[in-house]
Amino acid sequence: MSGSGKPLLGLWLYRSGEDWSYKEDCPLQTAATGANQALNEEPKPKVEKISVIFTLKNQVGGLVRALQAFQDLGINVNHIESRPSQLADNQVDFLVDIDTDQRKLDQLGRLLKREVQTMVIGTYGNGEENEFPPPTPLSATTSFDFDDMPWFPKKISELDQAQNVLMYGAELDADHPGFKDPVYRKRREQFFRIAMNYKHGQPIPKVQYTPEEIKTWGTVFRELHKLYQKHACREYLENWPQLEKYCGYREDNIPQLEDVNVFLKRKTGFQLRPVAGYLSPRDFLSGLAFRVFHCTQYIRHSSDPFYTPEPDCCHELLGHMPLLANPSFAQFSQELGLASLGASEEDVNKLATLYFFTVEFGLCKQEGEMRVYGAGLLSSVAELRHAINTPEKIKRFDPDETVKQECIITSFQLGYWYTDSFEEAKEKMRTFAEQIQRPFGLRYNPYTQSVEVLSNEQKITAVVSELRGDLCIVNSALKKISARHSNLDVDKIANLLQTGLATSNGEDNQK
Ligand SMILES: [Fe+2]
Repeated sequence: MSGSGKPLLGLWLYRSGEDWSYKEDCPLQTAATGANQALNEEPKPKVEKISVIFTLKNQVGGLVRALQAFQDLGINVNHIESRPSQLADNQVDFLVDIDTDQRKLDQLGRLLKREVQTMVIGTYGNGEENEFPPPTPLSATTSFDFDDMPWFPKKISELDQAQNVLMYGAELDADHPGFKDPVYRKRREQFFRIAMNYKHGQPIPKVQYTPEEIKTWGTVFRELHKLYQKHACREYLENWPQLEKYCGYREDNIPQLEDVNVFLKRKTGFQLRPVAGYLSPRDFLSGLAFRVFHCTQYIRHSSDPFYTPEPDCCHELLGHMPLLANPSFAQFSQELGLASLGASEEDVNKLATLYFFTVEFGLCKQEGEMRVYGAGLLSSVAELRHAINTPEKIKRFDPDETVKQECIITSFQLGYWYTDSFEEAKEKMRTFAEQIQRPFGLRYNPYTQSVEVLSNEQKITAVVSELRGDLCIVNSALKKISARHSNLDVDKIANLLQTGLATSNGEDNQK
C-alpha cells in the first residue's frame, strides 16, 4: 500500500478585503453543524489536527501577540517553525501545527486577523484512519530540522557566506618567496580585495597582468606544455585546443578568469569564483556542490617560477581548468562536494583527503599507459616527472585506503592513486560517501541552483517523478536509434541503469 499520507485537505480560511471568511467546503464547519446538530444534542467539539500558516503584519511584537492567541485559547500546539515565505520574497511564514475544534478555530481566526497579513489553514489528519499510515504534517513536508548539523549553503548565492580563508589571504608567511618583496605584497593585496569583495553573480574583474607576471607564467607554461602530450590524460588534452581558442591560453598571455568562467559554463555548467588564498576544506568542497570552483587569480613570485607554497593561477589555469570542461570529471567533482554538505568535521577531512589524491594528484590508466589528471601534478614539472618515474608509488584508488594517506604540501607525495576512468573513481566515491552520517540525501537542482534536502517520502517521490520524465526521453531515443543501428548495445545501457537502481535499493550492500 502506498504510504503517501493525507495531503493538505483544503485551504478554507482566507482573507477577503479586510475580513477573514470561510469557504463553503470547510470540513470543520460541516462536521460541527451537520450530524450532531441533527440529533438536537449539545454538539461535542470535534478535535482535529490543524496546520496554521501565517505571515505577520509589519508591526513590533506581532509574533508574540500571535502566539499568545494560541495560549489564551488553550489550544494544544504540537509544532512551531518559521521558514522563508512561499508567497513573498523577504518574508517569513510561521507554521503552527495544533489540535483544536471548530469553536476555538473561529476564535483563533478572529484574534489572529489583527496580527497577520495572510493566513492559510488546513488539516493534516483526524486520527480516525487507523488502517492508513499516519499522515505527514505540513511541518515535515516543507522543511527539515537540521538540529546541530554544521551549516551549509542551500543556494548558490549563499556561497558568499562560505569564504573562510585559512592561509595566504591578506598576509604571507615569512617563508613565502614573496614575503620580502613589498611590490609583490602590495600586488597581492589587490587580488585579496577583488576576492573578498566578490559576490555571486558578478563578472570576475579582469586583471592587467604585469610583464613580470606574464614572464613567470610563460616560463611555467613552456616547460609544462612539453610534458602534457606524453603524460596528461586524454580528457585533459581534448579540451586544450578550445582553451587556446576561446580563453587565450598562450605562453605570452595569462588567461582571464572571467573568460574561462564563460567557457566552463558553456561546457559543463562549472563557474569560477575568485578566492584570496587557501579556503577551508568545508567551504571549498561546498563550492563544488554547486559546480563553483574557487580559483586564485594571483601568480607565484617571479624569483622561483617552479615553486609555490600555495595554489596560484598557474596551478588553477593549467592544472584544473581543462578537466573542469569534461562532463564526467565535472560530475565527479560535484559529487565530492555534495557529499560534504552538512557532514561532520571528520568526514569533511576525509573527503578533502580523497579530493587531494584524485583531483589534485590522481592518475588514470589509458591504453595501457599511466596518464595524469591531477592538477597538482599537471602544474608541477618536478612532481609530474617524479610521479611518472616512480611506479612503485602508484596504487589502485581505494577510498578506504587512500583516505589514510597523509597529504603533503611542501614536498612530493608518498603515494599516488589511479583508476581506469573517472567513472570508476565516481563509483568508488559514491560507495564511500554512503558511510557519511547524514539523515537525508541531497540533490542539486540546476534550474534553481540550490540543493534539495531529500528528507521524506514526498520529496523523494517528486524527484523520482522528474527522473521518470528523463527516462522516458532516454527510452524514446533508444528506440529510435536502435531502429537505425542494429549493433547498439542496449544491454550495456540497461545495465548501467540497473546498477544505479540496485545501489539505491541497497542491494549492493547485500552482496
Ligand atoms: Fe588545486
